[in-house]
Amino acid sequence: MRPDFHPLRIAALDELTEDAVAVTFEVPDDLRDVFAHQAGQHVAIRVPGERERRSYSICTPPGGALRIGVRRLPGGAFSDRVLPGLRPGDELEVLTPTGRFGAGLAGLRRPAFVAAGSGITPILAMVAAALADPAVELVSLVDCNRSQREVMFLDEIADLKNRWPDRLQVVHVLTREAQESPLLSSRLDPERLGVLRSTVLGECDGWFLCGPFDLVTTLAAALVADGVPSTAVHTELFHAEAAPTVTTAGAASPAAAVVVRLGGLESRFTLEPGEAVLDGLLRVRADAPYACQGGVCGTCRARLFDGEVTMAATWALEPDELARGDVLTCQARPTSGQLALDFDV
Ligand SMILES: Cc1cc2nc3c(=O)[nH]c(=O)nc-3n(C[C@H](O)[C@H](O)[C@H](O)COP(=O)(O)OP(=O)(O)OC[C@H]3O[C@@H](n4cnc5c(N)ncnc54)[C@H](O)[C@@H]3O)c2cc1C
Ligand code: FES
Repeated sequence: MRPDFHPLRIAALDELTEDAVAVTFEVPDDLRDVFAHQAGQHVAIRVPGERERRSYSICTPPGGALRIGVRRLPGGAFSDRVLPGLRPGDELEVLTPTGRFGAGLAGLRRPAFVAAGSGITPILAMVAAALADPAVELVSLVDCNRSQREVMFLDEIADLKNRWPDRLQVVHVLTREAQESPLLSSRLDPERLGVLRSTVLGECDGWFLCGPFDLVTTLAAALVADGVPSTAVHTELFHAEAAPTVTTAGAASPAAAVVVRLGGLESRFTLEPGEAVLDGLLRVRADAPYACQGGVCGTCRARLFDGEVTMAATWALEPDELARGDVLTCQARPTSGQLALDFDV
């Protein structure tokens, strides 16, 4: 199904911490199906009439309200300048849910989650979804923050722990607060994660990490280096300023004839030399889905059926998705004279 924007009214704004707010949207009955979400998915949001959009993860498990948690970034166009002025009843345009972060949960019995800061948002939904599955034996959550008052969804995490005391173990790492164990008062690095794994977490059959770029990429690499299969390590980034995942040094991409299937309709257009597929597509299809345009959110994903592309960043794609031909159209530039892509798969 093609992701589409719909105007939704804000039902509630709840302060989570001094600098984080939960926004709950009212979903009318006729849009319930298109806004039904999987655990770990996100929505893109834009102010009516504007093109700029930002992605926010849904914090509830499937069947729950459409609720997101936004942390204020000083000077941030949406989180700092738009969000404080919003009131219940105001309308925002919301893209139907996308994302596959939670897909790897299927079939797991002992999933482990590492969240830092606002990275808890998709993970809260995934923890709740895992606990609702009777086949899951044990869920482990390591939540990293600077101090307890900065922990987003502290009450919701405590509620889950109260409800499932034997099936959920929660470790709060607070880097600016002394705790009984120095392990829990220091930044989580590969060595400390190793100690947590051997002393607290035990065997886990799938890992999900979400938080700042350095923490997520370093810990994911450490887990793989430590023998965890790379197919069992899943990451979600909110932002990446680091080096691209693939270099396209030198080569400017050639012009290419492109055919795209999107929302059941076929569109044909020509890419200019050096142009990314999404940029060319937006000239003929204003409804093409995208958000970050930086290879991070995955909203612009499509499958390549013919031709070849190179991508400067592929943060939102897992190795098996790359292997089956999924591409991020905001990053994809042709290396062949023709391309065929499908957004609807
Ligand atoms: C898949 C996905 C899910 C996301 N889910 C959430 C969520 O659940 N909760 C949440 O609060 N945010 C989430 N984000 C981040 C969110 O989309 C915005 O990037 C963030 O709110 C900043 O937007 P802004 O307009 O306020 O700041 P901008 O005006 O975009 O940026 C201001 C400055 O901060 C830098 N910056 C932008 N984003 C970040 C970031 N995340 N971390 C550090 N620096 C940054 C920019 O480079 C810029 O210098 C998610 C992002 C993605 C891709
Ligand atoms: S628009 Fe975010 S990855 Fe392409």
